[in-house]
Amino acid sequence: MSTKADLTSSGGFPIIRGRRLRVSPAMREMTTEHRLHPSMFIAPLFVIEGKNTKSPIPSMPGYFRVTLDILKKEVKELYKLGICSVLLFVKVPDELKDNSGTEALNPDGLMQRAVKTVKEAQPELVVMTDVALDPYSSYGHDGIVENSIILNDPTSEVLAKMSVSHAQAGADVVAPSDMMDGRILTIRQSLESEGFVDTGIMSYSANYASCFYGPFRDALDSAPGFGDKKTYQMNPANIQEAVREAQLDEQEGADIIMVKPGLPYLDVVRAVSETVNVPVSAYHVSGEYAMIKAAAEKGWLDEQQAIMETLIGFKRAGAGLIATYFAADAARMIKESLS
Ligand code: PBG
Repeated sequence: MSTKADLTSSGGFPIIRGRRLRVSPAMREMTTEHRLHPSMFIAPLFVIEGKNTKSPIPSMPGYFRVTLDILKKEVKELYKLGICSVLLFVKVPDELKDNSGTEALNPDGLMQRAVKTVKEAQPELVVMTDVALDPYSSYGHDGIVENSIILNDPTSEVLAKMSVSHAQAGADVVAPSDMMDGRILTIRQSLESEGFVDTGIMSYSANYASCFYGPFRDALDSAPGFGDKKTYQMNPANIQEAVREAQLDEQEGADIIMVKPGLPYLDVVRAVSETVNVPVSAYHVSGEYAMIKAAAEKGWLDEQQAIMETLIGFKRAGAGLIATYFAADAARMIKESLS
């Protein structure tokens, strides 16, 4: 029989039993350290020209490219679910693509019309726009190409013009996803000088050269036509560099810092969130969506549990915002669990 002295001197078990806090649903609920809320999800949306069309993406089962009329309905639905923001991407017809992204600046381009559509349908939503050349580029790169090199400063100038054009259409936040050096400052200065002092910038600061974007590139037909993105997107082996990129973007005026992809980079989310003093978002990218869908289709994983476990991982790692193709699904699950 153990005495009081024995128990105290042991310094651990059985005085300390971790299972006490797991005994009942109420106890587990009460001691939950992190919670997901629909307001933290950013819903990425793919927009196409046309009417009344939801175009399936083979590598993203259950996700669709949508025309503006459908977009209108979808954003209302997302807002009802408690989602606060959407991140718009457009699929640009081949004949409108060139080396310098001319179409990206068209005031009546698909992105500009998409922004207006969302703002008219659900003005309360925070409308974020992708700012990058790849969907507009005949080379499928995030910058202007010269002799197979991606030009930095001329690209930043186009991105700044694109950002102003999106702000003019009504975008609340522009989201440069290209990784050119100094582009946050160039964009910030352009927005300021055009009077868009309240337009936010969500910078993809730690944006890795990853294979997990494959399905997204299928969706937008935006895969690089030559080479890869390794001269601008980051080396997956690096974390110090990610922290540096995030710090620079914060100094240049980024309002939100993004890490992309998500799951294989949760250490980066943690490191960046401990360094910067702005909200950090993580992008749960298309390939990560595809992995869960594929395993669920085979009956190898429970889809709903896999989604929620993944998303809470982002939160635990330090992400305050999560861009995810599961935004609506997760918001529904959260609502159901509360009702
Ligand atoms: C590029 C951009 C990409 C994604 C968002 N912005 C593709 C890329 O970096 O090549 C990918 C998102 C996803 O895979 O879901 N400007």
